[in-house]
Amino acid sequence: MDFRLSEEHELFRRTARDFAQKELEPRAKEFEEQHAVPPEILRQLGELGYLGLMVPEEYGGVGADTLSYTIVMEELSRACASTSTVVSVQNSLVEFPIAEFGTPEQKRKYLPKLATGEWIGAFGLTEPESGSDAAGMKTTAVRDGDFYVLNGTKRFITNAAFAQVFVVFALTDPEAGNKGVSCFLVERGTPGFTVGEEEDKMGIRATSTCELFFEDCRVPSENLLGEENRGFKVAMLTLDAGRIGIAAQAVGIAQAALDEALKYAQERVAFGKPLAAFQAIQFKLAEMKTKVEAARLLTYQAAWKKDAGEDYILESSLAKLYAAEIASEVADAAVQIHGGYGYIRDYKVERLYRDARITRIYEGTSEIQKLIIARQLLGRG
Ligand code: CAA
Repeated sequence: MDFRLSEEHELFRRTARDFAQKELEPRAKEFEEQHAVPPEILRQLGELGYLGLMVPEEYGGVGADTLSYTIVMEELSRACASTSTVVSVQNSLVEFPIAEFGTPEQKRKYLPKLATGEWIGAFGLTEPESGSDAAGMKTTAVRDGDFYVLNGTKRFITNAAFAQVFVVFALTDPEAGNKGVSCFLVERGTPGFTVGEEEDKMGIRATSTCELFFEDCRVPSENLLGEENRGFKVAMLTLDAGRIGIAAQAVGIAQAALDEALKYAQERVAFGKPLAAFQAIQFKLAEMKTKVEAARLLTYQAAWKKDAGEDYILESSLAKLYAAEIASEVADAAVQIHGGYGYIRDYKVERLYRDARITRIYEGTSEIQKLIIARQLLGRG
């Protein structure tokens, strides 16, 4: 067993770190204040290939493996979790299902535009009354000739304000529960489809989160993604893969909190000594470091299993659960080390503390990860 990254993976890390330090770190606060990751940053992400990392080269992507994606997510998140959220939705929740379940025509039509960043995508599963119970959705899709007619509302949809294509789940057989869900590709501008107001969120405040409204929205039947009534599996398999990206995001946020705490503890003097000279602070830093390393190893393990073509449902939930939980713990400890300054907007740890919180909620709450892990352990997955 070799825990060192390959030269190619190291290059992904160096390039992503360089970009994140130069372009994101100095401006992350400004993005948050403007409630948007600016278009020039999205353009740069596209040029670097970060908006199509795992898309095969024949469709204009980088054709990189999941570990490369994980490393890029980690480095971007260290500087700006809002930016990495856009990258994660594009790669994990939009391109992955199209590449995995799309027809050749769908792949040719959508992947090249998405991989270059010409188009941004979004993922519409959650509804006002169904989050963890994903199959409890109410949105319906009724076949009418060469179209499906969609009616319903989606909620908390990341990238919604500027996405051009939406992966949307709806019931084609409402009596059949999760066996009656289908998945559709809905383009912005389709009559009957509108995007609502921005949510005012606690963290990742430079991301866009809106409702989607479907009112007799006619979607061409060729936009069905995967088979009719097999959409729940599309959602589950997409989220299994996506959770590796969120785990990487959590690792990046936690690493940033540790970096800030280490710096501050050596600079700040109290009782005549730097904070770092006190064992109470040293123990805190040691615990933070141990958690970050353990989360990173779990995350790389999940990515490695996916790249090896092995089953990774268990590993992706282990990584997402642990990384998300420790990101909050490590960010909390970093705020504590900063004392009053940690509570002030000018200090990065204040943003990290808020940004970390969402990783325990989206792409499956920590409680849902525990449920998936237990089912895997008990052979009921
Ligand atoms: N991977 C693959 N298949 C899975 C699966 C998984 N993790 N979990 C369930 N399935 C399969 C089952 O094997 C079963 O398949 P068969 O029909 O072939 O037997 C089918 O799905 C139904 O399974 P269940 O009966 O277990 O389904 P359930 O209704 O009890 O729900 C659940 C299972 C795990 C709780 C699921 O509802 C779930 O994952 N909920 C969380 C939803 C979620 O993560 N939402 C995030 C929203 S997206 C987001 O956050 C994006 C963003 O903003 C950035």
